[in-house]
Amino acid sequence: MKKIIRKPEQDQHIFSEGIDYSKTEKTSIWGTGDKDTLELLKKTEIRGRWLNLAAGDGRYNLTLLEKANYVVASDIDESALNKLRQNTPNTLKPKLKTEVFDITKKFPFENNSFDGVFCTGTLHIFSREILESIIIEIDRVLKYGGKVLIDFAADVKRIRWDGKPYIIKDEPKYTLAEARTTLKDSFRKYKIKMYESDVPEELLKEANPPYKFSCNFILLIADKKINC
Ligand SMILES: C[S@@+](CC[C@H](N)C(=O)[O-])C[C@H]1O[C@@H](n2cnc3c(N)ncnc32)[C@H](O)[C@@H]1O
Repeated sequence: MKKIIRKPEQDQHIFSEGIDYSKTEKTSIWGTGDKDTLELLKKTEIRGRWLNLAAGDGRYNLTLLEKANYVVASDIDESALNKLRQNTPNTLKPKLKTEVFDITKKFPFENNSFDGVFCTGTLHIFSREILESIIIEIDRVLKYGGKVLIDFAADVKRIRWDGKPYIIKDEPKYTLAEARTTLKDSFRKYKIKMYESDVPEELLKEANPPYKFSCNFILLIADKKINC
């Protein structure tokens, strides 16, 4: 497994931080989690085997782990996953597996192997073409009758310490309307529900580089129909 300790090439579709997560605070570098996402996660029926895609250092993973029977937390960044595992209580560790892989490539799982797929804070960074390929993989590994719970950021603003915008190369920059249409189209064969929310400006002081972040976002729950 490759340990990522430098900022990787974003044109390889890898947007990890290139930091040593063992040197960061115990809480997630992305904050404590969005209120609406946590509420939806708590009220959604979650059972069986779930895949937490691009789980990072585990902002939502404990909540998922408390409800699901088993969680595979994945990320391209092994250092983030090591922190996620370290922050997992011993009682929950038997239900957790961590797996390092690139979500823009074929996922290392069999067809129909998960009851649910969870992904936050990540999908909006990828071009429409790459996003489509990720959604094809999500669909492939998800069982019929399974559930997708994702968020999708729009109108993203990132401002660095020096007041200049922090730009991620080739980021698509979805508006809320475009995000809604994109998700509706991508999950057209699913039974979907979408909710809108926002992240008021917050300082991500442990990101690389540190920056102020704000966005609107869509929360999507999509059920894979038995016969689709
Ligand atoms: C903004 S963080 C979100 C982390 C977590 N999902 C959360 O909501 O707190 C984005 C995560 O995506 C991961 N990532 C970026 N590009 C990736 C890729 N191509 N494959 C897998 N993970 C990737 C990063 O390493 C990082 O942990």
